[in-house]
Amino acid sequence: MSAHIGVTGLAVMGANLARNLARNGYTVALHNRSVARTDALLQAHGGDGDFVRTETLAELVDSLERPRRVLIMVQAGAPVDSVIADLVPLLDEGDIIIDGGNSFYEETRRREESLRAKNLHFVGVGVSGGEEGALNGPSIMPGGSKESYDSLGPMLEKISAKYNGEPCCAWVGTDGAGHYVKMVHNGIEYADMQVIGEAFDLMRSLAGIEPREQAGVFREWNTTDLASYLIEITSEVLEQEDETTGRPLVDVVVDSAGQKGTGRWTAISGLEVGSPVTAIAESVFARSISSQRELRAVTNATFSAGVDETLSATEKYGSAEDRQDFVEDVRKALYASKLVAYAQGLDMLVAAGEEYGWELDLKAIASLWRAGCIIRADLLDTIMKAYDAPRDQQPKNLLLAPEFNEAINECLPAWRRVVAAAATYGVPAPVFSSSLSYYDSLRRERLPAALTQGLRDYFGAHTYKRVDKEGTFHTQWSGDRSEIDA
Ligand code: 6PG
Repeated sequence: MSAHIGVTGLAVMGANLARNLARNGYTVALHNRSVARTDALLQAHGGDGDFVRTETLAELVDSLERPRRVLIMVQAGAPVDSVIADLVPLLDEGDIIIDGGNSFYEETRRREESLRAKNLHFVGVGVSGGEEGALNGPSIMPGGSKESYDSLGPMLEKISAKYNGEPCCAWVGTDGAGHYVKMVHNGIEYADMQVIGEAFDLMRSLAGIEPREQAGVFREWNTTDLASYLIEITSEVLEQEDETTGRPLVDVVVDSAGQKGTGRWTAISGLEVGSPVTAIAESVFARSISSQRELRAVTNATFSAGVDETLSATEKYGSAEDRQDFVEDVRKALYASKLVAYAQGLDMLVAAGEEYGWELDLKAIASLWRAGCIIRADLLDTIMKAYDAPRDQQPKNLLLAPEFNEAINECLPAWRRVVAAAATYGVPAPVFSSSLSYYDSLRRERLPAALTQGLRDYFGAHTYKRVDKEGTFHTQWSGDRSEIDA
């Protein structure tokens, strides 16, 4: 019997996707560089469905129905190129190579172009949901040719997460679009986690609410418009007790956040396509600062806060009522900042679509993130509705959608109070505060950029435009300061 699909690379994500495919009735050919891993998978989970054991890529390819579908699940970067190089001579025109890792979208674009020249399809697929999602239903964001989706799409849709019965999988656009959308998902994921961290820090530093108690706060928040997977698991992480010390686990974990690159790529791409993804970029920088532990050991002992730090948390938000009000303020600041992160992520998708020629459908993309992925949240259903109109009638920014505009207005006083309190008492809140600045910048009719233009014209004759007439102008700063047409 020919297999429907082959999977090469059977580390946990590859193994779980293979099992998911098999559980959904597909015959899955398995390959791994070390056969021992293939055998271990078959021994532990062979009962999940129909698998074909293979020892070499040639055997894997031979076992597949046509057009062949080969899913590569190896580490992003050079290993993907190396597997592709080994596969190409074994494949025939029309076959489909799928990369389900977190590959950089520019690499996906390059690979797609070079394989297209060989009449092979290359599909970069964003897969979100971690190990559990891969096994039970991830959110899937495929790119590549539309034609390849005809053959591959039904399988991916079948194994994807479902939201009210709808698959969280749809073709998002050509070449690297799938990996791009997944990258932006991860950028939002970074911001989502950072605002949760800022809320945690503020509630502890200013209101003395300890992790175990905060677990309850987050559990409660998960019943509000913040309801999401990340808020849900925050309460679990916060109530976890360290086995050795009995302290909250979060107090014994080294406060240095790792990063594999997708958040950084999102920030870089935002800069490249001219989209101000400040919340995402600040989240990446927050991880970078967290990793400067040696520097922080010195600055912690040297830098003063410039405020009376002896003021205890209970003095700041002493009464139970004050604390309750503060917690509610923080919840609103978190929600507003989260909305900004989504608004910025969606904006950059539009900008990237123009740059790379992808017709990204924001409503469809929001629909893919409603279940299975790490940023899944009730909010996404509302985002989908906000974009339920032809492109030219969609809001130019998520925050312009009436329901979100209203939500921001409702959060604003609290958001400002929280950012002010953070600044007053010296608690870092980079995303809370930069998101508020982003919002305030969008609100302003005029920005001080006019002065920036004046300065640029002064030192570099970079010219400027005028608000009252057409043309490009330069002031002769080092001469008689008269204005000339430039
Ligand atoms: C997902 C996750 C997943 C992975 C990230 C973590 O959507 O399932 O985003 O892709 O956990 O790569 O990224 P960092 O290691 O950079 O936090």
